[in-house]
Amino acid sequence: QPQTPLPPHANASIAEKRKMVHELCQQLILTDEQIRELNYRILHEIKRGLNKDTHAKADVKCFTTYVQDLPNGNERGKFLALDLGGTNFRVLLIHLKEEHDFQMESRIYAIPQHIMIGTGQQLFDHIAECLASFMSEHNVYKERLPLGFTFSFPLQQLGLTRGVLSTWTKGFNCSGVVGEDVVQLLKDAIARRGDVQIEICAILNDTTGTLMSCAWKNHNCKIGLIVGTGSNACYVERVEECELFEGADNGKSHMLINTEWGALGNNGMLNFLRTEFDDEIDRHSINPGRQLFEKMISGMYMGELVRLVIVKLVKAGILFKGQDSDVLMTRGQFFTKYVSEIEADEPGNFTNCRMVLDELGLNDATDEDCANVRYVCECVSKRAAHLVSCGIATLINKMDEKHLTVGVDGSVYRFHPKFHSLMVEKITELIKPDISFDLMLSEDGSGRGAALVAAVACREDNIKTK
Ligand code: GLC
Repeated sequence: QPQTPLPPHANASIAEKRKMVHELCQQLILTDEQIRELNYRILHEIKRGLNKDTHAKADVKCFTTYVQDLPNGNERGKFLALDLGGTNFRVLLIHLKEEHDFQMESRIYAIPQHIMIGTGQQLFDHIAECLASFMSEHNVYKERLPLGFTFSFPLQQLGLTRGVLSTWTKGFNCSGVVGEDVVQLLKDAIARRGDVQIEICAILNDTTGTLMSCAWKNHNCKIGLIVGTGSNACYVERVEECELFEGADNGKSHMLINTEWGALGNNGMLNFLRTEFDDEIDRHSINPGRQLFEKMISGMYMGELVRLVIVKLVKAGILFKGQDSDVLMTRGQFFTKYVSEIEADEPGNFTNCRMVLDELGLNDATDEDCANVRYVCECVSKRAAHLVSCGIATLINKMDEKHLTVGVDGSVYRFHPKFHSLMVEKITELIKPDISFDLMLSEDGSGRGAALVAAVACREDNIKTK
């Protein structure tokens, strides 16, 4: 058997290999100067998004959500909620009871891949079907319940119950929906079935739901953040700043703004930070050139980023003596949850790391290989945490409140063992010294938050009709 030649560095020493890993990963480590520059650029883009004249060209759209009131704790009643846009599609029935008490039942439904990239009609028919079967299972088939629709994509909202999709993000790309009012599409699908009755009270983003859900208990909560499949934040802005909002004379002082910061970088704004790996992720995505900030941060891409770095190291003979595996070489097969698992090992212990490598068909790894794999994971996840922190610090400094709570949700934040502490550390470093903050894990923002937005909307209606 002719021997295949060894890749270039297979015979290098342990120390040399480690050095090469660190050198390759250097591009993933953000310097203080880069972070300062990014801070400045994010603020600039937020202002461009809010401004009437620059909004159309801005990366960060800063959409008006039409949510102007935070919950006051008196919201009551039974609500349905739909949650579309994360890893799962869910239908929920939420009963808001006495102060801060609530009951919730929910069910997850799969959205098959062919529907995620099929026609809009198929998507909304599927949603309506899940809703109807949920209602019948939960004995509310005959009731006409208020519904909050958490639709976690960039929406140009025209009111609390009207939102035009500006573009799909994450894994979705259904035809015939961009430019349409998604509330209408849902109503049409429900009407096509003709069996159930609902009253759509609000359409909202998951960041809005997260903020509302935390604000129900904690009145300092003024920012909502998601670090999950995608990444995005919303915050409470003064109405004078919201130039696109035409009802600014309604007597209310604030407006929740959905930044859609995932789109930062679409105009080249992040090129000073992006690496060869970010480029490759983007080139193979279903939306090349878009959501570039999100692609450096969120769970949909984090594992794949790590995989690309590892593949490069294997090809150079620096990892696993140059041995790859079919799974490792397949796009999307290094799951983001692996990053959390590997980093959850105690220092010096590689139990989880070896389990992951086994799953990838790499069972010949040395301790040194494991340490290097772990280092790659740490660089990728730390960069994500620092980028998010930079965005949050920009918002906190802009809002200029003495104390502020950030409501956070999403699989990366929830499951990564260090994301929270990395963020606390970085944000502390970046905000004005006289401001304090905390990060609060949101309890099911997309579900309960949707019910709360619907409830607050109902509260408004009640006031109006009195
Ligand atoms: C994507 C969506 C945004 C959502 C975020 C988190 O960035 O465009 O609307 O909030 O993902 O789910």
